[in-house]
Amino acid sequence: MAEKFWRFRRLRKNQLLRNMIAETTISKNDLIYPLFVIYGEKVKNPVNSMPGVFQMSIDNIVEECKIVAELGIPAVILFGIPEHKDPLGSDAYSENGIIQRAVRAIKKEVKDLIVITDVCLCEYTSHGHCGVLDGEIIDNDRSIGLYAKIALTQAQAGADMVAPSDMMDGRVQIIRQVLDDNGFTDIPIMSYSAKFASSLYGPFREAAQGAPKFGDRKSHQMDFRNSNEAVREAEQDIVEGADIVMVKPSSFYLDIIYRIKQSFEVPVAAYQVSGEYAMIKSAGIHGWLDEQKVMVESIYAIKRAGADLILTYFAKDLAKLIDEGKI
Ligand code: PBG
Ligand code: ZN
Repeated sequence: MAEKFWRFRRLRKNQLLRNMIAETTISKNDLIYPLFVIYGEKVKNPVNSMPGVFQMSIDNIVEECKIVAELGIPAVILFGIPEHKDPLGSDAYSENGIIQRAVRAIKKEVKDLIVITDVCLCEYTSHGHCGVLDGEIIDNDRSIGLYAKIALTQAQAGADMVAPSDMMDGRVQIIRQVLDDNGFTDIPIMSYSAKFASSLYGPFREAAQGAPKFGDRKSHQMDFRNSNEAVREAEQDIVEGADIVMVKPSSFYLDIIYRIKQSFEVPVAAYQVSGEYAMIKSAGIHGWLDEQKVMVESIYAIKRAGADLILTYFAKDLAKLIDEGKI
């Protein structure tokens, strides 16, 4: 007699069977580890709202990068905290800026590691905004001129990839143009394409010391009520020359990751941001959730939605779990 219902449980009987039919996998190759570089020597400041994350001076960053590379994580993304901030964020595009010096040191001492640099001004400007101000408004076209200078000096220092996170219009095009004009045709751009004006960046702003002194970022980052617009943002960045498009944050935006992955043929990255990390960590510390299990589930969800790459503060933990054969 034919069954009246399908027995899904047949393939869920034990771990070996479940592993055989699993549709989603996590590989170390998917991971990008964010790092915060601060001025000084032998500095390792814990970030309060992000247990396990530190601001580190260049000497410690180099050592950290060696550990990351040894774990088999292919890439880091660097954020800089300069000693001096000014209205134009000049440390961001100085040949001797914190990031340019960090990149040179890492490239000199660490083998087999892709060094990605974040391109933005908010950590460098005295007002904490992601661009040049005209009164209280960010001047789009003057700001993108500075981003091109930031990206160029980062490439000259040896960065392997640049990642504009500012959300000004037209920045990918001008960065691509200036990189090409200066012989950096082979440096890829990973664009923060669908970056939402999210409340989940709070802990990052403590880590990178880049909170705006007044107002918010809603005049350039996306409104979280929108999804069609996210697809248009990604399309525009691809037209302008982005090699990889990013969605940020990740777990609240799985529909956006899915839509962008379905719409385009380029690699898609997702940023599991500081607030997502803090939520999982803090619930774990309180004993309210199993940190490791929730972390693994969150990463699988982001991959299942369609992300090819994941920027996550859990990258080292994940690499260790992969080594132990636990995922
Ligand atoms: C800078 C930038 C931010 C993040 C990455 N690049 C903060 C912001 O836009 O306010 C957030 C990353 C995180 O929360 O982990 N523009
Ligand atoms: Zn910014």
